[in-house]
Amino acid sequence: MAQLLILNGPNLNLLGQREPAVYGAATLADVEALCQRTGERLGCSVECRQSNHEGVLIDAIHEAGRRFKAGELIGVVFNAGAYTHTSVALHDAIKGAEVPVVEVHISNVHAREAFRHHSYISPAAAGIVVGFGIDGYVLAIEGLVRRARAGSA
Ligand code: DQA
Repeated sequence: MAQLLILNGPNLNLLGQREPAVYGAATLADVEALCQRTGERLGCSVECRQSNHEGVLIDAIHEAGRRFKAGELIGVVFNAGAYTHTSVALHDAIKGAEVPVVEVHISNVHAREAFRHHSYISPAAAGIVVGFGIDGYVLAIEGLVRRARAGSA
């Protein structure tokens, strides 16, 4: 069965209580349950992880690259939170691991502060889903599955 990693970065453990006008009322547990249901619908197994630590996220991307190359994983749905806008190290990790990553942002970062307009993840990503709320995770999973089934992953 195709496997997917859903990786959430810093402060996404606070979903539901954190700036609900921007990020909505759903908790991280709700997001992870939504991803699990989406995986089941598409015949994929979904693993969800969250970390507030850049190095832990880098290690997860490296591990995903090894699993992708072993044919065990089709890709990663990654909301890097604020590290999106700061982390050359995460950019390099995705490039180095050579694993398809779909970058997700719950909010439309381009309609917000200027410091959110630049992403270090985007140039290394297979695709980007921005501004659809938590439905973005569903769209990203569907995109990765379609990509894998079309043979480009
Ligand atoms: C976010 C957008 C980032 O700018 C912010 O730092 C986050 C969440 C989003 O999902 O909209 O933590 O990635």
